Amino acid sequence: MIVCVCHRVSDKAIAQCARSGASFDDIQLEFGVATQCGQCEQGARRIWAECCPSTTLAHLRNENTPPASLIA
Ligand code: FES
Repeated sequence: MIVCVCHRVSDKAIAQCARSGASFDDIQLEFGVATQCGQCEQGARRIWAECCPSTTLAHLRNENTPPASLIA
């Protein structure tokens, strides 16, 4: 699906870059996402955040952390 109509950038392209460790700024520089009308920015950032490795690792860390009520 095309996320950025102005620059014809797909969700797959954004996800692939995010998984390879690219920052959102990198994606903007590489593809021009959210640099023209800006309508795509929120959706593009959501896709990037869902796919970037640090978000995935943070999610896993949170799953392994016991609730605060069990630590004390
Ligand atoms: S739709 Fe992405 S900058 Fe316009």
